[in-house]
Amino acid sequence: MKDYLDRNLALETVRVTEMAALASSLHMGRGDEKAADQSAVNSMRNFLNELMISGKVVIGEGERDKAPMLYIGEEVGKGGPKVDIALDPLEGTTITAHGGENALSVLAMGEEGSFLHSPDIYMHKIAFGKKFQNLDINPEDSPENIVTNFAKFADMKIESVVVCILDRPRHHKLINSIRSIGARIKLIPDGDVSAVIATSVDDSGIDIYMGIGGSPEGVLGAAALRCLGGKIYTKLIFDNDKIFERAQSMGIKDKNTIYQTNDLAKGNVMFTATGVTDGTMLKGVRIKDEIATTHSVVMRSKTKTLRYIHAYHDLSIKNVFINN
Ligand code: FBP
Repeated sequence: MKDYLDRNLALETVRVTEMAALASSLHMGRGDEKAADQSAVNSMRNFLNELMISGKVVIGEGERDKAPMLYIGEEVGKGGPKVDIALDPLEGTTITAHGGENALSVLAMGEEGSFLHSPDIYMHKIAFGKKFQNLDINPEDSPENIVTNFAKFADMKIESVVVCILDRPRHHKLINSIRSIGARIKLIPDGDVSAVIATSVDDSGIDIYMGIGGSPEGVLGAAALRCLGGKIYTKLIFDNDKIFERAQSMGIKDKNTIYQTNDLAKGNVMFTATGVTDGTMLKGVRIKDEIATTHSVVMRSKTKTLRYIHAYHDLSIKNVFINN
């Protein structure tokens, strides 16, 4: 991407996540995950198709046969520079349906080949923030050792370290290991893109993110950390040979590869997010009378610039979610 395009495009992408966030926020707390997700997908797709790009979705809503819109491989945009796109129109569908915290609409872009191509499977993740960029860990080490080494490097008491983990039965052993050394834990119901980002946000109260989550969310988290600073270590989990064969057809060579931040999101990337519900980095959508407000962040890995955009949208103007 030429620099001027890169800059302009970064700002253009905010309109895309704003509209997806606005559309899904209308379903907040209504208990209907599918409706919340579908409206975010529709809106993001419509607005992506307004951009002057020749975009290809490489991390999207799923495989072509399973996802009718924003599927992996779908081409979007009106034509322009070739870009690869990683997206999640609504990261935190259950959060939104319950009116919980940290649901985001997320979009990352980069030159062709920027993002790791993988099936939508689980991956192990360990992430920490920009202050600890120079800490090298062995991600296959025990959680106890990793957190202890982190505390030493950060010059923190182990009791002060907070590890964020998705609240899932599969993490019981991990949770017990962390508790056994005296570190503290923040269990979250969903939304690990936000948790990975939180490791690089001052005062988020989260020092490390650990556990198993989705691989698309891992790539999106890495794209954010490329811009914010910070590190993520990941390893894909292949449940069976068929999935590994599918991964091989997408370019994955070895089952045991550890993918770090730059392997997941390489080159110049940009990352844009709008809060759907209130979260660590961004406020959620507010609607009062005919005015909706959104909070977004747009950032670029090249310059490490972060721009927070607080926008006011007049809902009385027709088709605000479809054709603004
Ligand atoms: P969705 O918004 O797609 O539901 O994802 C939410 C999420 O919590 C991700 O942040 C996380 O990576 C993944 O789901 C974890 O998967 P699971 O819910 O199967 O444990």
